[in-house]
Amino acid sequence: MKYIVGNWKMYPRSLAEAKEIVAEVKAIARKAVMKKVQPVICPPSVFLAGLMGSGSSLQFGGQNAAAIGEGPFTGEVSPVQLASLGAKYVILGHSERRALGESDADVAAKAIAAVKAGLMVILCVGEKERDHDGHYFVEVANQLRGSLANFPESKSVQLMIAYEPIWAIGVNATHPATPRDHQEMSMLLRRTLAELFGKQKGFHIPLLYGGSVDAKNAQSFLDIGADGLLVGRTSLRAKDFALIIHNAVQNNA
Ligand code: PGA
Repeated sequence: MKYIVGNWKMYPRSLAEAKEIVAEVKAIARKAVMKKVQPVICPPSVFLAGLMGSGSSLQFGGQNAAAIGEGPFTGEVSPVQLASLGAKYVILGHSERRALGESDADVAAKAIAAVKAGLMVILCVGEKERDHDGHYFVEVANQLRGSLANFPESKSVQLMIAYEPIWAIGVNATHPATPRDHQEMSMLLRRTLAELFGKQKGFHIPLLYGGSVDAKNAQSFLDIGADGLLVGRTSLRAKDFALIIHNAVQNNA
C-alpha cells in the first residue's frame, strides 16, 4: 500500500471549503484503494466530524493529539476522541509542533497513547539543516529513537515514519529534497527501526517523504520506493492532490 496523506495544517478557513476539497478526493478514493493507494486527509480536528462520511474509501486523521485519553487539559484533543469519530491516523512530532516546544519525550508519550487508542501514528522526523560531515544523519536517528522511547514493539504495525527535512518544508523551503536524499535517509531509518523493533518488524514500517511535494515531483519519490507522501500546501489544492493520487494509481498498477 502507498499512502498519500494530506496535512492541511490550519487551513482552510471554513468547513464549506474543506468539504469541496474532500468531495474531489473522495471521487477517486475507491479506485485508488483498489490499486493499493490509500488517500488520507488530516484536516484541522474541528472539521473532522463534518467531513467524515461513512462508506468512503478516503480515510482521515488528526494533526496532533494529547498524551492521555481524557483529563482537565483545556484546548487539547485526545487520541481517544479522534478515534471515536472514526479517524484512523494521527500525525505526531511535526516540525511545526516541535518548533512550539514539543520534545522527543513529549512525542513518544503521545505516540504510545495514540496507538493505545487504536490510531495509526504518522511520526515526523527531519533535520533542520544539512552539514558536510553528515551529522544530520545522527540527529535524525536520535530524534527517531527519542520519539519512540518505550513504544510497544507489538504496536509497530500501527506506525509510519514521515521523513520531512525542515529545510524542504513550506513556502520558505530553500530547495526541495531529492528522491536520493529520501532514499539515503530511508536506509538509516530502516536500520534504526530494525534496532528498535527487530529486522522483520522494522522492515514493514512504511517510510513516507514530506516537504514541498507537488504534482510534479510526487511520483519521483514513489518511484524510488517511498511508501507514501505527506503533502502540505498541495493537498489543499484539490485538483493537484487528486492528480498525485491518480499518478500513484497509474504507476502502482
Ligand atoms: P509542504 O508541507 O508540503 O507545504 O512543504 C509539508 C508538511 O509540513 O507536512
